[in-house]
Amino acid sequence: MGHIAEARTGAVLAVTIARPDKKNALTNAMYGELADTLERARHDPSVRCVLITAAGDTFTAGNDLGDFAAIAAGALDRADMQVHRFLAALSTFEKPIVAAVPGLAVGIGTTMLLHCDLVVLSETATLSVPFVDLALVPEAASSLLLQARIGYVQAFAMFALGERIDAHTAMSWGLANRVVPPDELMSQAMAAATMLADKPPGALAQTKRLMRDAEAIAGRMKAEMVAFEDRLKSPEAREAFAAFAERRKPDFSGF
Ligand code: COA
Repeated sequence: MGHIAEARTGAVLAVTIARPDKKNALTNAMYGELADTLERARHDPSVRCVLITAAGDTFTAGNDLGDFAAIAAGALDRADMQVHRFLAALSTFEKPIVAAVPGLAVGIGTTMLLHCDLVVLSETATLSVPFVDLALVPEAASSLLLQARIGYVQAFAMFALGERIDAHTAMSWGLANRVVPPDELMSQAMAAATMLADKPPGALAQTKRLMRDAEAIAGRMKAEMVAFEDRLKSPEAREAFAAFAERRKPDFSGF
């Protein structure tokens, strides 16, 4: 496999995002691997819980901005965009998912946590969803789920001002269960995952189903995708991606 590693501990499948030299930024191929992994885990009765984590001191810097630029330039087709498969698999996953977040979680790094059932953050973790700074819009149903979790004005500030919140703030806002020292992250997350793996799977799956409005989530995700793909091809977004590649501040004054 490429930059996604899998490891089994009993009935827990740990899935590790492993591209630390690029801050674990997620490429199209990595989304494809994540989707395949979740689809396999969904059908494997010996997997009772999935633990999502990352290598190094970053969770993920979000979508690979080079890939975004490729889509903006028309080099990657919608049909080839694996992120849709990943989000569909994640948002409809019936077994419990635990996230262990070692550090910075940007964009989808934060929005994927809204689909995890228990979230453990390292003290060094920060969460941000700076979609507007990239001339984009929220994804993964986060325009619905984030404000439901933390309220409209806090969610808007995170989306529109790109505000980054620290781990303790994230926990006090209801985005995480626990904040732990970095060296305890994996042991505590694995302990939580093992506890879930020992529970009756039918009751867990049904509890998830009852707690999550699948229809609303799917509907919002679809609406966001249309807007997101439209934004990706916008001149504003091209400027944002070029600025990142050129390591300068974007200039939106001409739009
Ligand atoms: N896509 C592609 N490459 C990325 C990336 C991303 N989202 N985030 C980081 N990288 C790469 C950098 O280009 C750099 O590569 P290089 O060493 O070949 O130059 C490497 O990862 C290290 O990143 P760097 O920016 O030097 O580290 P930093 O500690 O100064 O900053 C971030 C880390 C995450 C704050 C910064 O890289 C960043 O803002 N990234 C973009 C985040 C983003 O907007 N994601 C999309 C959300 S929708």
